[in-house]
Amino acid sequence: MGVTLEEKLSRLGAGLYDAETVAELERDLEEIRLLKKKHGAVLLAHNYQRPEIFEVADFVGDSLELARKAAEVSAPVIVFCGVHFMAETAKILCPESRVLLPNLAAGCSLAEAATAEAVRRKAAELRKDYPDLAVVSYVNTTAEVKAVSDVCVTSANAVKIVNALPNETILFLPDRNLAAYVAKNSKKRIIPWEGDCYVHHQLAPKDILETRKAFPKAKVLVHPECRTDVLDLADAILSTSGMIRYAQESDAEEFIVVTECGLSDRLMIEVPHKRFYKSCNLCKYMKMITVPDTRRTLERLAPEIRLSREVMDAARRTITRMLELA
Ligand code: 13P
Ligand code: SF4
Repeated sequence: MGVTLEEKLSRLGAGLYDAETVAELERDLEEIRLLKKKHGAVLLAHNYQRPEIFEVADFVGDSLELARKAAEVSAPVIVFCGVHFMAETAKILCPESRVLLPNLAAGCSLAEAATAEAVRRKAAELRKDYPDLAVVSYVNTTAEVKAVSDVCVTSANAVKIVNALPNETILFLPDRNLAAYVAKNSKKRIIPWEGDCYVHHQLAPKDILETRKAFPKAKVLVHPECRTDVLDLADAILSTSGMIRYAQESDAEEFIVVTECGLSDRLMIEVPHKRFYKSCNLCKYMKMITVPDTRRTLERLAPEIRLSREVMDAARRTITRMLELA
């Protein structure tokens, strides 16, 4: 018999989930399994989701892996446990599937930082001085913004894709921190958009320095949405799945995980023989997705992601170009 949900959740700390809550979760999870079977649904989940969601996920990953997975899924229904822009990406890559997001309010401070109209205007203005300008959109953007971009990137491949482009000048949006990281690792002229992830941008060097003082042997793993002064303290700068692989494969026994707290939870559950210290914040949007809402979503087959054919076709070009270049 595998590890029970109760046992897994107890790895996050004693008393966080009481027996009654676990029993309720188990009932809902069983219902979700039955409903998935009934509707031929596939459930995709981002690494920052609540640990109980992973119990019913067919695939858990970072943005790049989830986009790759969505591109190969052929299911009438996809339930996306993550945030709105990620579910949109799944819809763009699987237009014939019904893509459900358990809470449509699960947004993202980065995706909200850029509108298609503002990007179009800025790009037109910059092209007067830099005619070869390419608009590179982090995947954390709306479908409409992707539709007016040249290529999309994720945290796992941003440097590689920017360096692979023939263009010398890049309007990089919407994350100024990821833009600064790309600029440091590229000879190109990077013009940043002024957005940030409210979860990562709030993390400061003192949060890491204090923990590192207490655990000097720990490797510091940092997500590239963090500020440059935080990235400077990293042993490795990685996407969320990159952090999981690093922790599993490294000889080190201890890690300071500098990103959204869901990732350290996943590591504590899945790599129980190593130690993980949290220098993290919670993403209120990721945590809007709950097991009861996921069950209700499968009962009602709603709420559903809806996008116009025109936006989907234009956005798909930028995501497909990314998948080819990566
Ligand atoms: P990853 O692609 O690294 O999973 O990051 C997504 C995200 O939203 C980070 O805040
Ligand atoms: Fe968006 Fe930041 Fe939440 Fe990721 S952690 S979904 S970038 S607000």
